[in-house]
Amino acid sequence: MSAFSLHSIDRDVLLSDQVDRRELKRIVQECQQVIEKGVTGDVVEFGCYVGTSSVYLAKLIEGSDRQLYLYDSFEGLPEKVAKDQSPVGLQFRSGELLATKRQLITNLKRANVTMPVIKKGWFSDLTPSDVPANIGFAFLDGDYYHSVMDPLKLIWPNLTPGAVIVVDDYANEALPGAAHAVNEWLRTHSGKLTVYASLAIIQT
Ligand SMILES: C[S@@+](CC[C@H](N)C(=O)[O-])C[C@H]1O[C@@H](n2cnc3c(N)ncnc32)[C@H](O)[C@@H]1O
Repeated sequence: MSAFSLHSIDRDVLLSDQVDRRELKRIVQECQQVIEKGVTGDVVEFGCYVGTSSVYLAKLIEGSDRQLYLYDSFEGLPEKVAKDQSPVGLQFRSGELLATKRQLITNLKRANVTMPVIKKGWFSDLTPSDVPANIGFAFLDGDYYHSVMDPLKLIWPNLTPGAVIVVDDYANEALPGAAHAVNEWLRTHSGKLTVYASLAIIQT
């Protein structure tokens, strides 16, 4: 297991402002707890951008038999649907938050971590063969309704007992689609929801 310390998140220069330190710490801590509890399965992140959160998830599982899987369009955000519309979220537009796969790989190399599996594509085009058979922890950071709902549908059958899903922007009025997706999903699927800052933490 890695000698990774959560405290490094307080000191490090982060790769982007897409996740704040307090939330980043909680995301990584949730993953750490999954590992400590012996919940099996790989780690997936949908919406990795330049890798701000990915590098810490990679550091955490470094040296273990878990694999990190990263998914992104590398074309930025898709179009919004009605559930994503918010008068305070006008800055989020199609094509925003574009990072290239090359940028991500450069950042991961600089962090000196084992290279994750990286899949480029729209989440709606991914199929069950694109995700690991056993998933213990998932971080969903796609900002929009379908960008959260599509990964939820894809990963749910492969979650191991005790798996945890963290969804960013659940309590962010600029990005209401994330909360719509989580709330709709939990109406028909069992999971205990905890809200921390803007994160939804779903204990399955
Ligand atoms: C907020 S950023 C992710 C930030 C990242 N977790 C970090 O810590 O740096 C959202 C990312 O999700 C990707 N994205 C959003 N919706 C997507 C979709 N439907 N399919 C593929 N990628 C998507 C965007 O390209 C963007 O890079």
